[in-house]
Amino acid sequence: MRCPRCGAEVPPSPLSFKCPRCGELLDAVIEEPTIKPKGRGVWRFSSILPQPRTKITLGEGCTPLIRLRSDLLLKFEGANPTGSFKDRGMTVGVSIAKAAGASSLVVASTGNTAASAAAYGAAAGLEVKVALPDGHVAAGKLAQAIVHGATILKIRGNFDEALNYVLEKEAGRSYPLNSFNPWRLEGQKTIALEIIEEARIDNVIVPVGNAGNIYAIWKGYREAMEAGLVESIPRLIGVQAEGASPIASAWAMGREELVPVKPETVASAIRIGKPVNWFRAWRAVKATGGGFMKVSDEEIINAQKALARMGIFVELASASTYAAYLRLAGSGELSGSTVLIATGHGLKDPDAVARYLPRIIEVY
Ligand code: F0G
Repeated sequence: MRCPRCGAEVPPSPLSFKCPRCGELLDAVIEEPTIKPKGRGVWRFSSILPQPRTKITLGEGCTPLIRLRSDLLLKFEGANPTGSFKDRGMTVGVSIAKAAGASSLVVASTGNTAASAAAYGAAAGLEVKVALPDGHVAAGKLAQAIVHGATILKIRGNFDEALNYVLEKEAGRSYPLNSFNPWRLEGQKTIALEIIEEARIDNVIVPVGNAGNIYAIWKGYREAMEAGLVESIPRLIGVQAEGASPIASAWAMGREELVPVKPETVASAIRIGKPVNWFRAWRAVKATGGGFMKVSDEEIINAQKALARMGIFVELASASTYAAYLRLAGSGELSGSTVLIATGHGLKDPDAVARYLPRIIEVY
């Protein structure tokens, strides 16, 4: 493992998350990757993934890449077993936790991580605790955590406060599976590898909360480049909701420094004010010539509706990518082909559609 800030090298371990020298989050390093896809889904890319003794899998990955226009594709991560991209990371993270002898797992979550940890933890026979911001988790996600038997820890605060709880109070008690855990991100990098198998892409638009996934996608592309599968990495564009946009704000000011905010947005999945992965995400995005931007809640809602009218129901956080695409394409800032990472299924959050007037005809 290596520190992306100071370059310190650390022997790999399930429990190494932070650089002992400077405190930055550690990266898992795959030296001279060779990619030999075999089988189906996330574990198809086993040659660049950790190899825990048993694999806790629910058939994650292998999600559809849907063509919306000649130059626009959408990677529908809502087709994963629990309805979000988190399953790609959880199959790796939970397998590692199980192999390391953990008896319980813990996550802070805006909802999807909790749903995924609850399902994979149940499949592994492990106890799962989920710390959730009270009143700000979509109904479907909460239902998933409950039905899979997780213990719910109610946090009177936002995601950032829930994550503090995990870091401060659960350390050493339960195995943490938030995105500061590099093994989880290893699974998530397979989004990039699946896209590479199907299409040559110039721009990838990703919703950003804690900023782990955009970094993971970059890492997938970089390893594919090192393995000779692609010649270059697409421009990565990270999207935040206006009311929860500390990275996009710093980017707009050209200042590589994170000033946490008190987050507020209808896109509850990315309602995060202090993203722990911001530094490595920043470096990754910068290296691709991409950027971070923000979109308003209104643009997000309109984008969700527009996608739904094309037959694709994604949750609000995921719709932010289409909102960003419309803005960038409208101002001529995009060239070539673009893929939107639609991170979660719309069914996760039925309350979000309460604002749309249904067309109901009373028949009897
Ligand atoms: N989209 C969805 C649907 C999410 O659930 C999340 C994160 C993101 C995008 C952002 O990904 O944090 O890697 O930048 N959800 C986390 C959770 C925080 O707890 O479910 P990120």
